[in-house]
Amino acid sequence: MPAALVCFEPTCRAQYPTSEVIYNCPKCGGLLEAAIDYDKEDAKLWKDRWRKRRLTNDPLDTSGVWRYREMLDLFGGGFENVVTLREGNTPLLSGPKAASYAGLDRLVFKHQGFNPTGSFKDNGMTCGVAQAVKLGMKRVACVSTGNTSASMAAYSSAAGLDPIIFIPNGNISFGKLSQALDYGAKTLQVEANFDQILALVRVLAERLGIYLLNSINPFRIEGQKSIVIEMMDQRDWKVPDWIVLPGGNLGNTSAFGKALRELFELGLIDRLPKLAVIQAAGASPFYDYIRQEDRSQFPTVEKPETLATAIKIGDPVSYPKALHEVLTTGGVVEKAAEQEIADAKAVIGACGIGSEPASAATLAGLKKLVAAGTVRPDEDVVAVLTGNVLKDPDYIYKYHTGHLDDPHGARLKSSFANQPIVVPNDADRIAALLG
Ligand code: F0G
Repeated sequence: MPAALVCFEPTCRAQYPTSEVIYNCPKCGGLLEAAIDYDKEDAKLWKDRWRKRRLTNDPLDTSGVWRYREMLDLFGGGFENVVTLREGNTPLLSGPKAASYAGLDRLVFKHQGFNPTGSFKDNGMTCGVAQAVKLGMKRVACVSTGNTSASMAAYSSAAGLDPIIFIPNGNISFGKLSQALDYGAKTLQVEANFDQILALVRVLAERLGIYLLNSINPFRIEGQKSIVIEMMDQRDWKVPDWIVLPGGNLGNTSAFGKALRELFELGLIDRLPKLAVIQAAGASPFYDYIRQEDRSQFPTVEKPETLATAIKIGDPVSYPKALHEVLTTGGVVEKAAEQEIADAKAVIGACGIGSEPASAATLAGLKKLVAAGTVRPDEDVVAVLTGNVLKDPDYIYKYHTGHLDDPHGARLKSSFANQPIVVPNDADRIAALLG
């Protein structure tokens, strides 16, 4: 049976062919997810097959997404529409300083910032763009806090499509904005926040026949499953106790949970790790939801505020999916303050690893979860760094020179500052300084 789009709402579960250009269930408005009819017998051969593909030079095999294509078989048997920039293949890096900062015996980062456009979005975008090509779409669009737009611009341009990106004016880092310009996207800076622009773009996509590539698009979520599949492959299928990740629109949380469920159902892993989702305190509606008694409504934050602009989102589009995945894994949702994120980011940097601010929410949140006894010091933890250190150099420079202000203008402490020093052109004085 070919793959289908299935409504995520348990009371609906309506099914649609993958050839339909829909993002929500036409019957009930619920989110859609891709359903693949897996061959469980064949799945027994996959681990070995995936390992062998690492030895070839075939473009699909050298992609850290398409190497696992049996779990992304969405296009009716062929992968000829795929454009790969060799996404994925991101390393597991050990961060001993970060581990002791969090109070853990050891800590491993899976660094998605090693992707072609510097963030985890590439894992999903290669899949979303393949579907756009398959559907014969010419124009693609997204609203973004910066990384989705950079990724969409690159992949759609590589595929010969026309990318149009919508970004909140003045609210994304220059690194990310520059990428979209460089990759040739028509770039519209809208005087509104992310959540407002998403509503706008959905109307425009419908009216103008443009394919929407936000994470509401189920094909993006499918591609992002590969982050977890690759992680397990790199760990020789040894499941960690915890996977920690930052949460904004909650697409990645949805993708990780779906990947874990499918790997478990196929017998490729023997248990589920717990998901720990960390939000920025000024943009933490999911954190609020998990703690409130009334479960009937998902709260929103009208004016989300955080310097971690990637996760400055007040009305996450994938709420229901993310909730399901966190509950299924017995996971948790935590939040981190601006100061906590800034210090954690400097510690990740001092490990020689580095990340953008949103990614550092993982370490900041972990430190709190260990202090609260939720995560034990001896547990096996993988934290996912979602974006590259060079995405937001302005933030770094301000932190290390003691000029980083929170969104309300209050000066943050630069406890781990590494100030650049201006010196005269004088060997003696420099030698004296260096001791
Ligand atoms: N980390 C980074 C670096 C991000 O760019 C994002 C999301 C997230 C974490 C949160 O992931 O939305 O799946 O929960 N960035 C989106 C964008 C919203 O437009 O680039 P999520």
